[in-house]
Amino acid sequence: MDDLRDKYLTAIRNAADEGTLEEVRLAAIGKKGEVALMMRELGRMTPEERKTAGPALNALRDEIASALAARKHGLEDAALDERLASEWLDVSLPARTRRRGTIHPVSQVTEEVTAIFADMGFGVAEGPQIETDWYNFDALNIPGHHPARAEMDTFYMARADGDDRPPHVLRTHTSPVQIRAMQDRGAPIRVICPGRVYRADYDQTHTPMFHQVEGLALDRDISMANLKWCLEEFCRAFFELDDLELRFRASHFPFTEPSAEVDIRCSWEGGTLKLGQGDDWLEILGSGMVHPKVLRAGGIDPDAWQGFAFGMGIDRIAMLKYGIPDLRAFFDSDLRWLRHYGFGALQVPARHAG
Ligand code: FA5
Ligand code: MG
Repeated sequence: MDDLRDKYLTAIRNAADEGTLEEVRLAAIGKKGEVALMMRELGRMTPEERKTAGPALNALRDEIASALAARKHGLEDAALDERLASEWLDVSLPARTRRRGTIHPVSQVTEEVTAIFADMGFGVAEGPQIETDWYNFDALNIPGHHPARAEMDTFYMARADGDDRPPHVLRTHTSPVQIRAMQDRGAPIRVICPGRVYRADYDQTHTPMFHQVEGLALDRDISMANLKWCLEEFCRAFFELDDLELRFRASHFPFTEPSAEVDIRCSWEGGTLKLGQGDDWLEILGSGMVHPKVLRAGGIDPDAWQGFAFGMGIDRIAMLKYGIPDLRAFFDSDLRWLRHYGFGALQVPARHAG
């Protein structure tokens, strides 16, 4: 019995985890354990032998059981200590302020533009970035052979082999949303449509993905004078500058007649872009009176309704307002640039026209 005691007390002391400890328990005092087997043999003993062997076996079983319980506690304490050591956290460390994100200038400017036009009664409409060639071109009076299709440097989507339908395009401008808005809402209508557009273009003032905001206003008697007032009013509110110089320049678009483009006077001297001074002009938008064929494509009677449309480069007006000289940097994801030109989450868009 002494051998048994030594054997199991040693095994208990050496058990490194609770699993091993359980195995020792079963082998010693489990139902088929060694101590239990010996207890069963008590029946074959003489009453005299039983008197001493019985209590001794009971004492041995109790001793092993309490050694097991003590060791189990010890193992649990050790496991807890180990977790406490590895899951330690200093809650008094300062928050990670320097890693806070910023609002991209394009998002900020889109908010500003939307707020200003909302004050003039314009709602917001949206359309898909992957467009059919009908919405992007045909409906805008740009038929298949028209040179404007080539001029736009369009990105075409692939069709499956053997599929002869015209390919979808990455929309080259937000003008297809004019058609969708006319179809959805009819006339009279006043909407702007901000969004991403795509062209195979790349230099200091052109990127392959950029942002435009389309404007569309249709009613019984809207004229070119309303267009001019509206754009001037917008620029005054957006740029917050009194001596801003705008240039309306006659132009051509298949979907407007007459058409005009608008440039803003600026200077690039010393590698910085400055507004309202210098001898350079940066084009910010194309515009005009909506062509009757375009109204018809949108399901609107050109004898009853007329109006203007414009398409403005959001990134371009962001460059001008915030003095950012290279458009390509907008989309480089350079953290230093984002921290420098980005806006705080709580910086409300600049004051707009009341
Ligand atoms: C158009 O896209 C016409 N859909 C605009 C329009 C709408 C005219 C409604 C009449 C009626 P344009 O290709 O000129 O026009 O582009 C409009 C503006 O988008 C430009 O003035 C410029 O500000 C901006 N833009 C054009 N290409 C790029 C580019 N690659 N990167 C950044 N901005 C660009
Ligand atoms: Mg242009």
